[in-house]
Amino acid sequence: MSNSIFGKDGTAQGVAKQRLIETLAKSDKRIINDPYADRFVIGAGFIKLMGHKFSVWLGKKLVPGLHEHLIARTRFIDDLIEKTGTTGAEQYVILGAGYDLRAHRLDLPSSMRIFEVDQAEVQARKRSKLPKTITNSENVTYVAVDFTHQSLAEQLTAAGFDIGKPTVFTLEGVSQYITKEAVSSTIEELATLIQTNSSTFFISYVDELLDKDPEACFGRGYPNAAQRAETIKSLSAKVGEPWISFYTAEEIASLLSRNGFSVEENVTLEDLNSLYFTPVGRTLPENQIFKLEHFVIAKSQNN
Ligand SMILES: C[S@@+](CC[C@H](N)C(=O)[O-])C[C@H]1O[C@@H](n2cnc3c(N)ncnc32)[C@H](O)[C@@H]1O
Repeated sequence: MSNSIFGKDGTAQGVAKQRLIETLAKSDKRIINDPYADRFVIGAGFIKLMGHKFSVWLGKKLVPGLHEHLIARTRFIDDLIEKTGTTGAEQYVILGAGYDLRAHRLDLPSSMRIFEVDQAEVQARKRSKLPKTITNSENVTYVAVDFTHQSLAEQLTAAGFDIGKPTVFTLEGVSQYITKEAVSSTIEELATLIQTNSSTFFISYVDELLDKDPEACFGRGYPNAAQRAETIKSLSAKVGEPWISFYTAEEIASLLSRNGFSVEENVTLEDLNSLYFTPVGRTLPENQIFKLEHFVIAKSQNN
């Protein structure tokens, strides 16, 4: 257990806070909508008073592009889940779910079973904050797993996961917080759960260049890239969840390939800027591009 005042959910709150800030934008200006995010964020009332524009402006003073990066990640996965939901995925496993509310805020087929996996303490706080009645709750099963010492496959199958059904798995914003061994063993276990069907896996990872060549992890002209990289790492460490694992694209592709997946897409905010922010008049300039975390979609090779 960390010594942080946040317990084990500091970073989960951090991401929920960005979803709350984005949700405060006018509906024709925002790229995601999470009407539940405020329930999980300490100080949500104050953020609401500050509003979207001021909160984003303030965030840019600390780490330009971080808000847009996290929100683009959310939207990228929202699009993936909605697409796979309509093209045959019958199960959705949210690994390291934190305060992810996709089960309740997206329009998913009522036949799609959803398994939320996270540490027991984080799940307990989440459940205590959710409204008593919420859309689609009958389709959600909580499965407590600590990736560092518990078997994902055992816990999921005990909770009713069906290895015969096409599934979409997401591991969003988690791989940097756990050891490479834990990521590797989690993906190995996941591979045993999809032997007989067509499945999709999303993973985000932090580029190892963050340590070796920080400038390469931001757009040209990004202010004080090396110093900013240290700020980002220290913000996570301060809430008790330091970033400890970094990867190359080749390492991720090889890890996935060894476990029966082939990479279909590997993108960053740089690729998503024109797709998501330009249509709402919020294109980020090059010197605010934050591209140190990659978003990868892989398909099981049984497809
Ligand atoms: C940055 S949060 C991301 C939460 C969510 N995926 C999102 O993007 O909003 C990281 C999540 O990973 C979970 N996590 C960290 N270490 C874990 C472990 N060893 N086993 C299971 N979950 C873990 C945390 O509890 C937290 O919910």
